[in-house]
Parts: sequence; structure tokens; C-alpha cells
Amino acid sequence: MQDQIRILKQQALNDLQQVDNTESLPGWFRDYLGKKGAVTALLKQLGTVAAEERPQVGKAINDLKTELQDSFDSLQERLRQQKMEKEIASDSIDVTLPGRPFPTGHLHLTTQTLRKIYQIFAEMGFQVYEAPDVETDAYNFQALNIPEYHPARDMWDTFWVNKEVVLRTHTSPGQIRAMKEFGPEPIRVILPGKCYRYEQITPRSEHQFYQVEGLVLGHKIRMTDLIGVMNEFARKMYGSERKTRIRGSYFPFTEPSIEIDMDCILCAGEGCRVCKYTSWLEVAGAGMVHPVVLKNGGYDPDVWSGFAFGMGVERPAMLKHGIRDIRYFYGNNLQFLQQF
Ligand code: PHE
Repeated sequence: MQDQIRILKQQALNDLQQVDNTESLPGWFRDYLGKKGAVTALLKQLGTVAAEERPQVGKAINDLKTELQDSFDSLQERLRQQKMEKEIASDSIDVTLPGRPFPTGHLHLTTQTLRKIYQIFAEMGFQVYEAPDVETDAYNFQALNIPEYHPARDMWDTFWVNKEVVLRTHTSPGQIRAMKEFGPEPIRVILPGKCYRYEQITPRSEHQFYQVEGLVLGHKIRMTDLIGVMNEFARKMYGSERKTRIRGSYFPFTEPSIEIDMDCILCAGEGCRVCKYTSWLEVAGAGMVHPVVLKNGGYDPDVWSGFAFGMGVERPAMLKHGIRDIRYFYGNNLQFLQQF
């Protein structure tokens, strides 16, 4: 038996020496180490060996098996290496080529715009305060000085969840929430978020859109503070040369109320299609917080004063990038989104 082992070893190693490519490896493995290979056959004969010799013979066969497996493994590794080197030499793979770029996503234009707005207001000491999208009638309207019978409700076409609950039509209810959470202490917050209105969807209006609300409360806060903040914002957002103007307006929750415009970012006052030849673009609705609203938020109007503003997010981005249709913002069209 020991002779048989020696001969088989010699033969196997000789044969292995003849193997010079990876394709011939499996054949050799089958012949010697496979289930029906010669080494396995030897092991099966172990039963016929005299009992006292059996441990020794068994060990010899196992040693043979290990040795052949090791030789096989190292040859296999060497041949693979050679094959790869040949392929590299024959230029079929160029391992120095840069990898294929992995497609990574990026922030939505709305998010980019929002973050820029956050940044500008952060520099002026504003915190970001988030309020819920699903609101009560009480917060969305009543606390903002818009009782049930008030004709100003017509300014907001509302999605009703039930008689008391709405999808917020503007970010202004967040004013009341912020006041109740922080008050009565000075406040300087912006309230960004999605708003919803039951409107016909057109290139200019969606039934969902973003607003950023601002609220500043303190002692002796005045209209000039509001104008200063809006000036600073317009210049940081749209360029240091921007000019602003204010017009009287009406909102039930501010008194007095104003609209803030800036000179057209495209024609700088020359008149063009974007500004409809008026030279001005709307930036925000704003005003001094109405005493009733202060009271509803838990602030004594004799002691506290402040201002609020609300502005759109998609519209200005549309103006800036020449986007003709607001529906692109919610259309998930990658060809559109990847441009920004
Ligand atoms: N909430 C108003 C709107 O949606 C905007 C606004 C906010 C006006 C705050 C004044 C003060 O039209």
C-alpha cells in the first residue's frame, strides 16, 4: 500500500507539471482529487489494510491528499496570474482606465433654493421652525384673524380634510405655533414648508408649492426693520445691485400690510417679458403682526410688536433659471432635474 501511495504521488506530481493552462486544471483535479479520482479510490481501499497498519496508511493517504491539494492550489494561482498578465500585455483590459462613474443623485432645485434661503436668514440670526402640513381651521384661519364668515377666506382655495382640518393654505399658521412654543419671548424664525391650494393646475400654479414665512417679535420692532431684512435678503439672494420697493396691501393677519417687490433680475428695470414690462418682481407679502394675532399667540400687543412675511420658493427659482412651467418641480422628470 505504501508503495502504491508513493507511485501515485509521483505520477500525480508529474502529471501536474504537464498542466500549463487553467483550462487543463479541472481534468487533473478530477483524475486525482475528485470523487472518482485516484486518491479517493485509495482511501476506499483502506478497509482492506490490516488493522494495525491502518492508522499509518490512512495518515499517509491524507498527507498525500493535502500535498496534492497544496500543489494544485499554488499552480492554479500561478496560472491565473500568468493569464491575467498575458491579457494585460495584449491590452484586452486596461486596468489604468478610470472606473465608470457611479450615478449619484443631487438635491432637488427646490431644496437647493430653500437651503440658500436658510443660509441667508441664518446670517441674520433666524432659526428654522417647522410646522405641520395638516392644520386645523383654527390655526390656518381663525387664529390669523380670519373668522369663518370672513370674505378673506376667498384668498385661499382650501383642501378640506373635514370640517375642522385642512391642508394648510400658507405657512402663516406656523406663526401661532412658534408664538405658543417660544412665547412670550423675542422670536426670530423662518417657517419653511409645503402649502396646498385647491387650484387649477397650470404652468403658473400647482396645487402644492413651498413658502417660507418669517416672524420677528420683540420690543419696538418696526416696519423699517422689516424693510431692512427684505432688502438684505433680496441682495444676498439675487445680487448686491438689487433694489426693492414696497406697496400697500391687505392681509387679515398683518396691519399695516405690504407687498415687497424688487427690480427685475433679468432686465434690471429695462422691462422684459419676465416682469411683464413693469420692471418689478414680487418677492413677498408682509406686514406688522396684527394685534389680534399677537393676542392669539399669547403676546400682549401693548408690550410686543413684530413683523411677518411670506414668500414663494418655486416662482423665484423659475424666474432665475427661466423655467416656464411650475409642474416640472413635481414631475420627477430627470432630464429636467439634472440640469440644476
Ligand atoms: N400668508 C400669506 C399668503 O400666503 C403671505 C403673508 C405671510 C403675508 C406673512 C403677510 C405676512 O399669501
